[in-house]
Amino acid sequence: MHTYTGSRREPREYSLVRLQRVVSELQEGGVPVLLDLFCGTGGATMGYFNAGFFVIGVDRVPQKYYPFPQFVADAFAFVRWAGDIFDAYHASPPCQIHSKTRYLVPPHQRRPHKFIDLIPQTRELFNGLRYKRPWVIENVVGAPLDNPLLLCGTMFGLPTYRHRLFESNVVLAGMPHPEHVLRSDDIGNKKRHNGVPLMRQYSGHFGGLAMAQEDLSMYWARVAGISQALPPVYTEYIGGQLLTKLQPSTLS
Ligand SMILES: C[S@@+](CC[C@H](N)C(=O)[O-])C[C@H]1O[C@@H](n2cnc3c(N)ncnc32)[C@H](O)[C@@H]1O
Repeated sequence: MHTYTGSRREPREYSLVRLQRVVSELQEGGVPVLLDLFCGTGGATMGYFNAGFFVIGVDRVPQKYYPFPQFVADAFAFVRWAGDIFDAYHASPPCQIHSKTRYLVPPHQRRPHKFIDLIPQTRELFNGLRYKRPWVIENVVGAPLDNPLLLCGTMFGLPTYRHRLFESNVVLAGMPHPEHVLRSDDIGNKKRHNGVPLMRQYSGHFGGLAMAQEDLSMYWARVAGISQALPPVYTEYIGGQLLTKLQPSTLS
């Protein structure tokens, strides 16, 4: 047993041998395994799963509604502990420091662990992996990502713009970006205003959980998780491309 102390909560005990065995059995059965760091409620996870990966999540906070195995741990300490046993890696480090909405939080109310830029450290972590594996770092517009791909809800027919950027060590193909013709409902998440359809934002403590779950195909998730999540269809699109770039597993 390995005592793991990277979590903000009490130290957890995980078996590294057990994890290695589970991952290698999946790989030997032809199922690639992706590690989703900063997994939150699992929007990104679900997309990679839909693309064909089995996904293991890591978040420093226990995610009650996360629909896959989750390790409660600090992302960096987890990778140092588990090593490079996964076929591909995704990371969504906290985005508050880069988000337009940061100005809504007065400086004295900004919690330091949320207002921190972990992107350089995440890139360094991935570049330092012993075996070259496809990796992706996701964040909001304004984040310092290298040559990122932008995805927008309109590319997938979603009723939300929710722009997100993706940096990777493999070339990711983009999509045409449809013009934004509809206004977003800034306050609520109404479907229409004066008969005109509106785009939804689903940020903060939004109302209309059932509509958000349906719009984003995130039926398992709740308001707090959805407001921070990637629509699964984004990572399903990216995951499909990562599948074509996988190296033969070191374990099989
Ligand atoms: C933007 S959310 C991730 C959303 C997720 N990609 C999704 O699609 O549902 C960022 C998450 O990072 C977690 N987090 C922040 N710092 C962390 C750290 N050092 N290690 C692990 N998780 C961390 C937070 O608890 C939060 O759940």
